[in-house]
Amino acid sequence: MGTQTPETPAGSAQTATLVVDGVSHELPLVTGTMGEQAIDISRLRATTGLVTLDEAFGNTASCRSAITYIDGEQGILRYRGIPIEELARNGSSFVETAWLVIFGQLPTQAERDRFSELLTESSALHNDMGKHFDAFPESGHPMAIMNAMINAMSTHTRPRINDEESFLVAAAHLLSKVRTIAAASYKSHKGEPIIYPRRDLKYVENLLHMMFSLPYDDYEPVPEVARALNLFFTLHADHEQNCSTSTVRMVASSDANLYTACSAGVAALWGPLHGGANMATVQMLQRLHDEGTSAADLVAQVKDRSSGVRLMGFGHRVYRNRDPRSVILKEAVDDLLCALDIDDPLLEIALELEDVALHDDYFVERKLYPNVDFYSGILLRAIGIPLNMFTVMFAIGRMPGWIANWREVNMDPSGRIQRPRQVYTGPELVEWVPRELR
Ligand code: SDX
Repeated sequence: MGTQTPETPAGSAQTATLVVDGVSHELPLVTGTMGEQAIDISRLRATTGLVTLDEAFGNTASCRSAITYIDGEQGILRYRGIPIEELARNGSSFVETAWLVIFGQLPTQAERDRFSELLTESSALHNDMGKHFDAFPESGHPMAIMNAMINAMSTHTRPRINDEESFLVAAAHLLSKVRTIAAASYKSHKGEPIIYPRRDLKYVENLLHMMFSLPYDDYEPVPEVARALNLFFTLHADHEQNCSTSTVRMVASSDANLYTACSAGVAALWGPLHGGANMATVQMLQRLHDEGTSAADLVAQVKDRSSGVRLMGFGHRVYRNRDPRSVILKEAVDDLLCALDIDDPLLEIALELEDVALHDDYFVERKLYPNVDFYSGILLRAIGIPLNMFTVMFAIGRMPGWIANWREVNMDPSGRIQRPRQVYTGPELVEWVPRELR
């Protein structure tokens, strides 16, 4: 069996030829907007009896999507065709970026006003929802609480989405309440009173207010802090078929509601190899600082595979060049620390670590560069976000991407429930044995 993918002569049907036991099968080639091509194997099993095996899906497109484009070789990231550098440079707010990612274009003033109104109206939690926080242990991780609380939203109003208006309302509810849930989990963890949202504050400022105000002392964020957190959320808004977004699409494909699907996204994001890496990166930098370990020593440890040590915040399944988000975040960290007159030793360590790694063959050969998580944690530290809330901030930022992907699955008239195949490696046939003979 061999696979020939001849250069497809101009004008011929775009196909790949698969030869199985001497029989040739023509498999159609699908071409994306930017010219990337995929072999469509949707008829493979029916025509050859074969399935493909691609553990961790490194070579498999699970869907067609129009939301985000990444070119890993060039280090390009675009939301609905707009480069993230443009959004950052033009100061697009997270709310504006959320509309772009979810609905496909930047909002008009009227759309922006309607969305803001819905976000403000729906920022408070139902009283019954607030009672859950009394039951969570103070030590409960805020990602576990967010996962539970977003799903609990389905117990109140399972969003009946049968038109654009009901979808807009449900999306605004989720995007607004994820902020309130995050702040409430932080307050519960600290043993402080939960702070209600204010109608006069914008999205990010309201989150900071709910996190850092006290009943007798209102927190007023300086503009640089609000700008930095807006940028952080904007850069996290979507990232094509990453682990958590693929999870949301898988759950959405069973026709599960928006809240439940996004709650599953939170669960997947929590892993240290995914959204938990921003927290793991700062813990790594803090360890270097406290133990006085040099960047060179850590890199040597990482290169010794028996150590099992990975350079957190480095490497990426798709980027084989710099993650464009880390480039922007590195600059934003510098700007924020200067504006707040903070001298964070972890930034110096991160800069040295990046320099040592990028001049080391181990990283160069494997095309391992800083990813979104390498500098993001230092930015959150400067804002005053505690370590155990880092991945929660990532989840808030990624909510528009999850909502957009849920919508894309639900708007696909030919959509089917996702159900991958497998290669079975268990025993062929085993007889049942009574317990006394086992
Ligand atoms: C995010 O998918 C997305 O888009 C995710 C994300 C998003 O926005 O949703 O971008 C967010 O999750 C960013 C990634 C955050 N995770 C980390 O920073 C954790 C550290 N990084 C790695 O564990 C790793 O790079 C992954 C998980 C990110 C990617 O893993 P892959 O693609 O499966 O890479 P791999 O494990 O196959 O590694 C290939 C080689 C291996 O060496 P060899 O076997 O070839 O000798 O590179 C090595 C790996 O050992 N390697 C690393 C490394 N990452 C890969 N070695 C040391 N340190 C690392 N960080």
